[in-house]
Amino acid sequence: MPIREATADDWPRIWPFWHRIVAAAETYTWDPDTSERAARALWMSPAKRVYVAEDEAGSVVGSAFLTPNYAGPAARVANAGFMVDPERAGRGTGRALAEHVLAEATAAGYRAMVFNAVVETNPAVRLWTSLGFTVLGTVPEAYEHPRHGLVGLHVMHRAL
Ligand SMILES: CC(C)(COP(=O)(O)OP(=O)(O)OC[C@H]1O[C@@H](n2cnc3c(N)ncnc32)[C@H](O)[C@@H]1OP(=O)(O)O)[C@@H](O)C(=O)NCCC(=O)NCCS
Repeated sequence: MPIREATADDWPRIWPFWHRIVAAAETYTWDPDTSERAARALWMSPAKRVYVAEDEAGSVVGSAFLTPNYAGPAARVANAGFMVDPERAGRGTGRALAEHVLAEATAAGYRAMVFNAVVETNPAVRLWTSLGFTVLGTVPEAYEHPRHGLVGLHVMHRAL
């Protein structure tokens, strides 16, 4: 699956699934009503390296970012985010994006990766665990899930 660095022109193809995922309010801690402009500033920020995954026809089916999780002396701990178009989920795109971003993070000199807020009911927890992440701790009852009620947020970590 081709994965490449995103350009500004990719944003209109990321936004439809970005919006769908954040509006569902099941996986991210961003405002479900985030505007397109604000979403673009969040995802395509100059502080982030952004990637897209394409299908055989060249359509964008997923995106990821890589960025420092902290500043200064802790800047070699990375953070990353992942989204796959729900219409195209379950076909290996998320795993391919994650493996790519972990390799890019290692090549860039990061020593570890941290996810700050993984909703404990997210099936992605299994994906991250299979890639070597562990749950450092869980903020209890932090996330109001539309179907599961109050659920915890995992802090997940993997050394690189
Ligand atoms: C999480 C996400 C990026 C995974 O992308 P994907 O392309 O569907 O994932 P893959 O097809 O590569 O599946 C990866 C593994 O996760 C599991 N998985 C992923 N999503 C799942 C789901 N909704 N239900 C059950 N299992 C799921 C699969 O069993 C799969 O395991 P395998 O590789 O051993 O077969 C995607 O579902 C997504 O964008 N979700 C919404 C946003 C989100 O939760 N981002 C992560 C925030 S921590």
